[in-house]
Amino acid sequence: MPYKIIEKKEIASNVCMMKIMAPDVARAAKAGQFIILRIEENSERIPLTIADFDVNEGYVTIIFQEMGKTTKQLAKMTEGDDIQDFVGPLGKESDVEKLGTVILVGGGVGIAPVYPQVKAYREAGNKVISVIGARNESLLILEDEMRDFSDELYVATDDGSKGHHGFVTDVVKNILDSGADIARIVVIGPPILMRVAANMTAPYGVETLVSLNPIMIDGTGMCGGCRVSVGNETKFACVDGPEFDGHKVDFNLLMSRLGLYRDEEAHCLENHACICKGAN
Ligand code: FAD
Ligand code: FES
Ligand code: MG
Repeated sequence: MPYKIIEKKEIASNVCMMKIMAPDVARAAKAGQFIILRIEENSERIPLTIADFDVNEGYVTIIFQEMGKTTKQLAKMTEGDDIQDFVGPLGKESDVEKLGTVILVGGGVGIAPVYPQVKAYREAGNKVISVIGARNESLLILEDEMRDFSDELYVATDDGSKGHHGFVTDVVKNILDSGADIARIVVIGPPILMRVAANMTAPYGVETLVSLNPIMIDGTGMCGGCRVSVGNETKFACVDGPEFDGHKVDFNLLMSRLGLYRDEEAHCLENHACICKGAN
């Protein structure tokens, strides 16, 4: 069954937001979950987080950065176009409960997966402190939306074009150093950011959750592609996660496995005739 794109917007340089008609997915979706889509019959499958959903209207919002062949192909699609497959919701929903004060951190396009969690933690009665960051102001997404659901919102940019001149982790460290009673920190962004954040929070003893983004293929725990190591145990991020205790994640393994197919991905992008047709 095809899934129609009902709205498309470029919300930052090379970052697109799309609303996709998918009533069944919207009805079942929870914060922290993702979908796997396939543009056409012979396309590869790619996972994208459910950034938002509307049960009444029946759509799911995805926000993605143009990285390689598939995301660039998706970015060329427009309102009225159909996506062949849009499977979800997949993965475990975030374990959101009333804890007290929670810090939600989003880096780059990682702000998109943090957004539904900000809403969920706020709805559960928590005080929500959001910290969002990007390389520069033009790459910052969802600032207004995040502000609407946050008790406090801090912005950081690497080049100082908006907010704190530096990294989101500096802002989080300042909050922790102020002695604030923080029950949990959730960090989503590039693996390097999640690793730095987890290392920084460890001495403070504050629970730190991260959402892992290994290469996924089937999304059902069958192929083993998304294998990660957490507390020296092998986990499949698609069914056991994607959220895990950041203090226990082997980020080196995650980062090395993410780079396993760089040559093939570059080749696919150059030729637009994917050698790994249909399977990646
Ligand atoms: P390619 O050139 O094929 O790959 C570029 C890089 O993306 C690779 O080096 C690899 O690190 C990664 N990648 C490639 N294929 C996959 C794959 N099948 N699964 C995971 N990573 C892959 N990106 C967003 O922009 N927005 C999101 O909301 C988002 N949510 C995600 C949620 C989950 C649970 C996971 C696992 C990943 C998520 N990603 C998200 C990353 C997104 O899936 C990749 O950027 C995308 O698959 C790249 O495809 P490509 O063909 O354009 O690029
Ligand atoms: Fe295949 Fe997770 S994507 S096991
Ligand atoms: Mg690809």
